[in-house]
Amino acid sequence: MIGVFDSGVGGLTVLKALLRELPAERFVYLGDTARLPYGTKSAETVSRYALQAAEALAGYGLKCLVMACNTASAVALPAVRAQLSALPVIGVIEPGAEAAVAASASGRIAVLATEGTVRGGAYQQAILRRSPEAEVYALPAPLFVALAEEGLSEGPIAEAVAHHYLDALFAPAGGASAPDTLVLGCTHFPMVAAAIRTAVGPAVRIVDSAETTARHVRAALCQAGLAQAGGQGGLRLLATDAPERFARIGARFLERPIGIREVELIDL
Ligand code: DGL
Repeated sequence: MIGVFDSGVGGLTVLKALLRELPAERFVYLGDTARLPYGTKSAETVSRYALQAAEALAGYGLKCLVMACNTASAVALPAVRAQLSALPVIGVIEPGAEAAVAASASGRIAVLATEGTVRGGAYQQAILRRSPEAEVYALPAPLFVALAEEGLSEGPIAEAVAHHYLDALFAPAGGASAPDTLVLGCTHFPMVAAAIRTAVGPAVRIVDSAETTARHVRAALCQAGLAQAGGQGGLRLLATDAPERFARIGARFLERPIGIREVELIDL
């Protein structure tokens, strides 16, 4: 069983990529819907929540834990690794940073994330560790979280918000010095990628940390000899509050219907 943890429904974008990459595996996904958003909370609080969620998931008999939440990965990955020392724990920051460095020709890389992820500096450090000459611009874009959950991922409102956050860095006035690569450093942002594209233009490489994390998990499982060779796979969905909302909104993120009975309510 592979555990996947997020603050809510957003991590279903990462789960979707994992299900595509590893169709024979069994997954248990926990969305901490009672306590989201994590992106606006302090690092101490997010770490405490992440440790509780990781402990609960470990009880399901995991062979690997994926921290799908960028904010939790940014501030709590070392603490969760220390707590679950017997398990590989994979966050989304390192795979995203690796893909960004590989994609960028100019070394100018923008990261769009929550306030907590930007403040913690984890993406900036992970990119600079791989490419010390890189110029990294980290921008908080909290409104995209609400837009994606409201189902306003595309259209004039999402595009106006994209221009609001990105024009200063990417508009023609920025000219040649604009970044050539943009990392979607939040679970919700793949949902608004089309709107983001209208603001950054066709030439910028958009790196989706969900896709790169799924490839990273597959590589880690294969390397450890833990990959499931065959079988049908499976999925359990857990939420800490409002299973009906999780099912309704999560269906858009997972791109398949979620029955309300599929979502189990748990307490941490
Ligand atoms: N899952 C969070 C992240 O990727 C976004 C939503 C939240 O703020 O809880 O950073």
